[in-house]
Amino acid sequence: MSHQDLAIVILAAGKGTRLKSSLAKVLHRAGGRTLVEHIVRACHPLKARKTLVIIGHQAEEVAAVVEPLGATTLLQQPQNGTGHAMQIAKRALGRAKYAIVLPGDAPLVRTETLKALAAVHRNGNAAATILSAVLADPSGYGRVVRKSETMVSAIVEESQLSGEQREINEINSAIYCFTLEKLWPALAQVKPNNLHRELYLTDAIAVLNARGETVLAQVAPDPREVLGCNTRADLAEVDRIFREWKRNALMDAGVTIQLPETVLIDPDVTVGEDTIIEPCVQLLGNTKIGARCTIRTGSVLTDAILGDDVKVEPYCVVAESRLDDRVIIGPFSRLRPNNHLKDDVRIGNFVELKKSTIGEGTKAMHLTYLGDAKIGKKSNIGAGTITCNYDGFHKYPTTIGDKVFIGSDTALVAPVRVGDGAYVAAGSTITENVPADGLGIARSRQVNKPGWASQKRRELAAADKPKRKTRKSEPRKKARKARKRR
Ligand code: UD1
Ligand code: CA
Repeated sequence: MSHQDLAIVILAAGKGTRLKSSLAKVLHRAGGRTLVEHIVRACHPLKARKTLVIIGHQAEEVAAVVEPLGATTLLQQPQNGTGHAMQIAKRALGRAKYAIVLPGDAPLVRTETLKALAAVHRNGNAAATILSAVLADPSGYGRVVRKSETMVSAIVEESQLSGEQREINEINSAIYCFTLEKLWPALAQVKPNNLHRELYLTDAIAVLNARGETVLAQVAPDPREVLGCNTRADLAEVDRIFREWKRNALMDAGVTIQLPETVLIDPDVTVGEDTIIEPCVQLLGNTKIGARCTIRTGSVLTDAILGDDVKVEPYCVVAESRLDDRVIIGPFSRLRPNNHLKDDVRIGNFVELKKSTIGEGTKAMHLTYLGDAKIGKKSNIGAGTITCNYDGFHKYPTTIGDKVFIGSDTALVAPVRVGDGAYVAAGSTITENVPADGLGIARSRQVNKPGWASQKRRELAAADKPKRKTRKSEPRKKARKARKRR
């Protein structure tokens, strides 16, 4: 089958009533992507002449997902069944000889399986080839009724199964390859003979068989590949399988994952060799992690770029930030978007960063907020340092040079600069620039008053005495009241 003969049709117009959701079924996510996106991507390597997606429910939103991936959309309004959806595609299919048809809700199907399906179809000179699967629990699926070892006579929907057909555990995946010139006349004969008064594409199989055409069924090598997502439980199961496949691929590539079933990794994430991922970690979006890193328990990284030998201690949250080689963060660090931590930076517990660049070897170890800050190399940011970057209207930058020492509990009121090699005294509120190699000190001078505390204690004790006298003379109840008031 030359690629120019082949088209893809993805049926994605349905609502997904069984999910009980305001979101169209194919826009639900599993394995880090919408269901329909998984399917378009699985079809991509088949290099078909066109990929049609039949849309209906939340058509605009579905189109916004699939059109950027190169698919063409066609509107099915109203949705009168899978057979009707296929009729909508007819004109747009043009000169394609074959079509692979897939539902929008079975996202686990692999490209290799689709290639094999197409090959079986071509080699068998079939009118239709069904991708089937053998399931221990076939309930909810249409069943494949065979008339011989190789040939199929019909697909029977669950609602229409006869007593003995209930025993069949070979199910219809709703993924097929059709020879289009044979499909169209058969589809024209299909009647809406069901409770929902819909045209079922599955009914075209019996018609093809009655017309003496060849209908084959190819059993999927892994039955999990054909799982459809009709319910929330189905979605959870499909998500679990995607996550498992992703973790297995990373482990095969040399990544250690502890208690793997607790770790969630999105499909586009990459991780280098000998990196260790501890339990309950989430690696999301376009996160890229280098070699020999350690991502400790409870950390969530979204669109993070990590160099080599980076250590993320427990319970860090990182978004859209770059951590270069040998950076250490956490435990309990929070990196909001747009930070760049250069080599050997150390960020400690309860430190929050936003839109900040931290130079090589600089440390901010405790209880600090750095926002819109640019900090040079080998500087030390003391505990409790705060960049006051926002005046309620605008954000302002803080610039700190190389080898700067910021004393603990400093407030840096931006815009402000601290020059190379400068010191800022602990407890300062810095509102003006500090020159290079200078000291910025901005706090009131301390006054010590010798003996003040013991004198105060004596005064207080003396003031207390007369009260105790009166209490003795008063009835007990009154005394208790007086104590309470104090
Ligand atoms: C379908 C098959 C069933 C198979 C199962 C596998 C039919 C009649 N039945 O059942 O044999 O075992 O898939 O998962 O095909 N859609 C449209 N337009 C419509 C109706 C549906 O585009 O008018 C789309 C849906 O969005 C969905 C797909 O077709 O993506 C399948 O529809 P769904 O309602 O999920 O069919 P099932 O009942 O699961
Ligand atoms: Ca389905």
